Amino acid sequence: MTTRLLHAEDHGDIEHAAQLLIAGGLVAVPTETVYGLGADASNPVAVARIFAVKGRPANHPLIVHVADLDHARRLSSDWSASAEVLGRTYWPGPASVLTPRSAVVPLEVTGGRQTVVVRVPRHPGTLRLLSRLHDLGSCGLAAPSANRFGAISPTTAEHVMTDLAEDIDAVLDGGPCDVGLESTIIDCTGDTAVILRPGAITHDAVSSALAEHGIAVTKRQGQDGESTDTAAIAPGMLRSHYAPSTRLEVFESDAELVEARRRHEDRGLKVVVVPRPVDDFDYSRSLYAALRECDGRHGDVMLALLPEDDGLGTAIRDRLLRASAER
Ligand code: TXA
Ligand code: MG
Repeated sequence: MTTRLLHAEDHGDIEHAAQLLIAGGLVAVPTETVYGLGADASNPVAVARIFAVKGRPANHPLIVHVADLDHARRLSSDWSASAEVLGRTYWPGPASVLTPRSAVVPLEVTGGRQTVVVRVPRHPGTLRLLSRLHDLGSCGLAAPSANRFGAISPTTAEHVMTDLAEDIDAVLDGGPCDVGLESTIIDCTGDTAVILRPGAITHDAVSSALAEHGIAVTKRQGQDGESTDTAAIAPGMLRSHYAPSTRLEVFESDAELVEARRRHEDRGLKVVVVPRPVDDFDYSRSLYAALRECDGRHGDVMLALLPEDDGLGTAIRDRLLRASAER
């Protein structure tokens, strides 16, 4: 299959993408976090193609992307106060809400679960596409990150082309992603909200929005790369995920990294050091492209410095720890 390159600022191309999706096609779309591999969430056959192309186990549920809060509510059978507050506060943006599924969402999308994860992404071209899909009768765009299962998420259209060309119908090029890490996932089904995956909407941001409404936030058990049960927990939370093919080692301090570098080089190994930008926003935005670039240099080992476990640093650490976990 030849994969078409479409442009997110071209209205004709958005219409073309919408038509491909409604016909059951797969179109990769830009979001502020990472590129998603999209299919019409109302079409179980198209959704099945996502799993086939990614090589993703069918019990691993997909996020459904919609144009606004109103469309999000329709996907839920019990839209909670915490979901409403987070949607109002952070959408469009990198927050995803876990809510009970309504009958509108096929079980193929949720991997057979009675819950669904929903989000309104911030990219203008993708928002236009999502509105159009809604007008054409779709409940939303089911889209995991547009990479093969377990590999590094794409943050440019070029990354998607490198990974998935020939297997998908089109890529909508909307430029590089400005957040660069997958969205924060918040379980909004209970009395307290639970952060299932850290992202750019930080723990403090979630808790300050909810505190005004008297709702508490807790962290999921088993963070920092602990292994988890694949059937019970989302794959983005698997111990080894987001991984380059070169072995990656991570360090708490520069001194430890320099020491490890010396040790490896003494043994004749080719060492590639992942650049550590000055602030966490740059680190987040550039991390996946940097991991890909370093991986492409075919060293024996890659070394990276962990940011502090605070604010956006928590999400960066989470991805680096998973990328470095033993497979
Ligand atoms: O930023 C993002 O969230 C990107 C962009 C494309 O929106 N998407 C993304 O999708 O990271 P994916 O499929 O790579 O990760 C979604 C995570 C997975 O770990 C999945 O298991 C979890 O969300 N998830 C989705 N629905 C779920 C559900 N009903 N219950 C538990 N976990 C769920
Ligand atoms: Mg993913």
